[in-house]
Amino acid sequence: AKDKPWGGRFSESTDAFVEAFTASIPFDKRLYRHDIQGSRAHARMLGKTGLLNTTEVEQILSGLDEIEQLAEKGELDWKISLEDVHMNIEARLTDRIGIAGKKLHTGRSRNDQVATDVRLWLREQMDGISHELRRLQHALVDLAERETDTILPGFTHLQVAQPITFGHHVLAWFEMLQRDFERLQDCRKRLNVMPLGAAALAGTTYPIDRLYTAELLGFDYPARNSLDAVSDRDFAIEFTAAASLIMMHLSRFSEELILWTSAQFDFIRLPDRFCTGSSIMPQKKNPDVPELVRGKSGRVFGHLFSLLTLMKGQPLAYNKDNQEDKEPLFDTVDTLLGSLRAFADMMPHVQPKPEKMRQAAMQGFSTATDLADYLVRKGLPFRDAHEVVGKAVALGVETGRDLSEMRLEELQHFSDIINADVFAVLTLEGSVAARNHLGGTAPEQVKRQVQIARRLLSAN
Ligand code: ARG
Repeated sequence: AKDKPWGGRFSESTDAFVEAFTASIPFDKRLYRHDIQGSRAHARMLGKTGLLNTTEVEQILSGLDEIEQLAEKGELDWKISLEDVHMNIEARLTDRIGIAGKKLHTGRSRNDQVATDVRLWLREQMDGISHELRRLQHALVDLAERETDTILPGFTHLQVAQPITFGHHVLAWFEMLQRDFERLQDCRKRLNVMPLGAAALAGTTYPIDRLYTAELLGFDYPARNSLDAVSDRDFAIEFTAAASLIMMHLSRFSEELILWTSAQFDFIRLPDRFCTGSSIMPQKKNPDVPELVRGKSGRVFGHLFSLLTLMKGQPLAYNKDNQEDKEPLFDTVDTLLGSLRAFADMMPHVQPKPEKMRQAAMQGFSTATDLADYLVRKGLPFRDAHEVVGKAVALGVETGRDLSEMRLEELQHFSDIINADVFAVLTLEGSVAARNHLGGTAPEQVKRQVQIARRLLSAN
């Protein structure tokens, strides 16, 4: 270990397996741009406070530029012997510029450095995720607007319940994603706090200017407690929890798309370019994208649990355990971004089949509640109305007919307050149009909700 940046107190080299076992470079090299970004700000702060002179700062900045370009081109030879992205970059810098490179780590530790890098990286990723989420929300509002009065059955227990409008159903998805968007924005506030300056755990003896570094890096403020700053990974857990909710929503969403493309439902068509075939069954067109998204949700839930478990036993302050935060976090971001992107690309091309939806809504006595409400309007208590309609439905089941297909005299047999005007409430259009209040499924309400959704989307 004599050859390591920290080799001073060591008398033998690191065991080769231990070196590989403890190294994070195979995965944390992904943070190189943010590590360099943090180092630039740190160097400029050291210059501003007189801890480095102008020449040294300039050498560091241009050295970091060169290293970044090399890494960008994939020409940086990351060394496992240098353990992680931080020491690889610092060693490379010192190779290039000499003494000034050795001064960069003044008043800093890898502990506050890595916590800062991960926050910078995740902040950028979260902004990309929010963007994809918005793109998907836009696609949903457009779809809802095209389908404000398309009727399909609404389900409870996956049994036909009441007719609803497709626009209304799509806007339910929009609402879930709106909460997800707000959760990400909220999580970002707690993420955007700067650990740098905490050094190893207790702060540093140099007269650093943390406000200046925070400003350079776009952080809202420096972390108030150095111990907490180096050991806090709440932001990663919070993000992964928000990501889990998004994946859970996409998974439910997927489940509906999968059901709806089946021959049994046949409510929608997915474009061929989002599906694949079977190597044996020539007729197959499989909804792979939603199936994969449904499947991938489990990975992200698992990462949430990994991170919680990672943190639960750690005494203050930094422990090497924390190095294990990266792979779950990276995979959460990759999985979520990929899933959102696939959905945002696919949704504008989902083709509803209104005739099939309508046929399905005609089955299963979806307007039974409307008949009960009709009786209530004529003065019957709701419980009695429920009973009356239940009997009418039993006749329907027995004779294979919908309520709207019964003769007036037949219906009157169950209750003599039923008149010819009953048939207006038994139509699908009458049923949805009657639910005309804030949050209801009437086409008029869906149109209003589309406007509100558009306003939410243009707010940021
Ligand atoms: N690779 C380490 C990590 O990801 C960086 C910090 C290491 N600090 C230390 N004292 N060993 O957490």
